[in-house]
Amino acid sequence: MKNLEINIENVFPFILKKKLDEYEELTRYHIRQLHQRTGKGANFLGWLDLPSSITDESVKEIESVALELNKKIEVMVVVGIGGSYLGAKAVIDALSHSFGDYSGDRSFPKIIFAGQNISEDYTGELMDFLEDKSYAITVISKSGTTTEPAIAFRILRNHLEKKFGAAEAGKRIIAITSADRGALRNLAEKRGYKTFVIPNDVGGRYSLLSPVGLLPVVQAGFDIRQLIAGAKKMEEMTRPGTPFWENPAAVYAAARNALYRQSPKTEILASYHPKLVYLAEWWKQLYGESEGKEKKGIFPASVNFTADLHSMGQYIQEGERNLFETVISILEPGRKIVIPGEEDDGDGLNYLAGKRIDEVNKMAELGTMLAHVDGGVPNILVNLPQLSEYYLGQLMYFFQKACAISGYLMNVNPFDQPGVEAYKNNMFALLKKPGFGEETELIYKRLEKAR
Ligand code: PA5
Repeated sequence: MKNLEINIENVFPFILKKKLDEYEELTRYHIRQLHQRTGKGANFLGWLDLPSSITDESVKEIESVALELNKKIEVMVVVGIGGSYLGAKAVIDALSHSFGDYSGDRSFPKIIFAGQNISEDYTGELMDFLEDKSYAITVISKSGTTTEPAIAFRILRNHLEKKFGAAEAGKRIIAITSADRGALRNLAEKRGYKTFVIPNDVGGRYSLLSPVGLLPVVQAGFDIRQLIAGAKKMEEMTRPGTPFWENPAAVYAAARNALYRQSPKTEILASYHPKLVYLAEWWKQLYGESEGKEKKGIFPASVNFTADLHSMGQYIQEGERNLFETVISILEPGRKIVIPGEEDDGDGLNYLAGKRIDEVNKMAELGTMLAHVDGGVPNILVNLPQLSEYYLGQLMYFFQKACAISGYLMNVNPFDQPGVEAYKNNMFALLKKPGFGEETELIYKRLEKAR
């Protein structure tokens, strides 16, 4: 069976292989640090062995709760923000029919997301949509105090209670939160909601293989056992003792760190499949929140080709030379569609007749990569055999492991996000949240001066 592979041939025109060899010892050291829990943020390493340590009993519980609830709902609203929704959204979008209900099978509910913004229009339209639907809510917040999902959850549970009565609404709400702290934990216990626990040592953006990712994915009709199996394979492929050049996470972390130290400060994640737009959003959060601190970090950006070759392509080819690109290539797509021939060849496309659409897509991928390398943009290629639960498990664990190694190579803690507090404090002061008296006075004075 094939596995995810990384190819950095198109980094070597920019970095000497000798330079990369120097990372062999460094990455070995950091991988050991991770597994021995001796590096920065060592209290947040529970995700490292989630794939191999998750028990059959916990998977069964997630599956049976999801399937029982699915019997009576058309829609599941997943409420969460950041790491509490992006992993599930990425997997569900990657596996879903582009135009249909999520799994393409109507016995599974449509999964929609809320609490990832504070837009009144989004909320109003969500209520319009839910008005005539039989729905349920999965609310996810590790801290249990995040404002965006808390507001959405309050509005939605009021709606649900009005629609079905408090007792039935209580049976249609699942809370995924910390075992022992936070407002959501208290509320869930008071109202008797079914709960799942986010382990204390698993941070939001590393939580895909906990109930945070697994419950919505199984609810959408996808195979979480395969997702876990793929991640487990990658856990084995990246474990301590794996030779550097055979460990894709070590090679990826080393290549991007070597590029960053030489010059490029922006990494663009590119794919040629619209189903991977949210995979890129998940990846941006993972790398942005993990590395962007202490005035360091590669800025994570993303593009979806070939659409974005007609918008961002010009900049990538000829703009400021401060970029490198990581391309996720899907070797075998799920469908086979051949371009038909036409007798009069009015559109001049007969030279493509008989070719699969994917052959054209692959030539676009190859041609773009060569053009970008010629234009001064180093390229890292991540080859994924297929878009399936198993390979998404490999891909996402690979990115997580590489991100942790990358953070250590930059000498930052890849598991905290202290900078996220700054906007929250200002927003709370502006909203006059109890306890923010002094900050409120200061911020209003500052605004007066600015006017
Ligand atoms: O990666 C993280 O830890 C964050 O992005 C969180 O997931 C995000 O801020 C949401 O936090 P919470 O789950 O506590 O509501």
